[in-house]
Amino acid sequence: MKPRTAIPEGLDQKERELFLTLDPKHLPRHIAIIMDGNGRWARGRHLPRIAGHRSGVESVRSTCETAARIGIPNLTLYAFSAENWKRRPKTEVGFLMKLLVTYLKQEVATLNKNNIRLEYIGRKHELPEDVQATMAWAREATARNTGMTLTLALNYGARSELADAFSAIVESAAKNGGLEHLRRKGIDEDAISRHLYTAHLPDPDLVIRTSGEMRLSNFLLWQLAYSEIYVTDVLWPDFRGKHLLEAIADFQKRERRFGGLGKT
Ligand code: FPP
Repeated sequence: MKPRTAIPEGLDQKERELFLTLDPKHLPRHIAIIMDGNGRWARGRHLPRIAGHRSGVESVRSTCETAARIGIPNLTLYAFSAENWKRRPKTEVGFLMKLLVTYLKQEVATLNKNNIRLEYIGRKHELPEDVQATMAWAREATARNTGMTLTLALNYGARSELADAFSAIVESAAKNGGLEHLRRKGIDEDAISRHLYTAHLPDPDLVIRTSGEMRLSNFLLWQLAYSEIYVTDVLWPDFRGKHLLEAIADFQKRERRFGGLGKT
């Protein structure tokens, strides 16, 4: 008899049903999510934009919990792009910062309960100092967890990440007296990957974008080279664990070719 798949604890009825449709041996090792649609969610309810961001925190919670429960090793969330700073009203940016600090302070206990380790990518040093201090505290408080790694992209932009990686490669060659070697050999792909903010992560297998927009918006441009893209019309504040499971089910139907010819 075929052994029954063990259902992870803590899933609700719908999540259990969806989980049973999955092949637990082929879960994505890394899922990245572009959380979009908070503003539209709020507008649809005649609420200020910040109400959408506030509701989006519940989606972050539900998504992380479900991902951790089913055994996804890495989840990366695009929380604030580098462009968000320049192109949004100061009051909204200020609110998002406060929301992040509140989230981190409240969530560390739950992250620890779920064995989730927190990491960040992005130009952290440009964030307000109190935000940086809370981020460092939360990271340290979860550093010994061994389950899922939750990476928050904060003040993140893929082009600046690549620029920072190239600068770091040159810098380290200069420090070690290796500039001539670098000039002769050039920069290879591995060296770039090792100097990205995501050096601690495998490339995402699956990238999800909510709210129906078909764009990458300067997110993980290098790392998403062979990722499967899943776009859902669901707005981020409505996104829950069951939507994550639907995305994974769709991912498992894809044939990944990595530039090869596939099965046919
Ligand atoms: C995009 O929606 C969303 C953001 C810019 C912010 C994402 C932040 C959260 C989900 C909450 C806080 C996050 C954490 C990790 C605690 P949008 O405002 O661009 O929506 P729109 O395109 O409908 O205007």
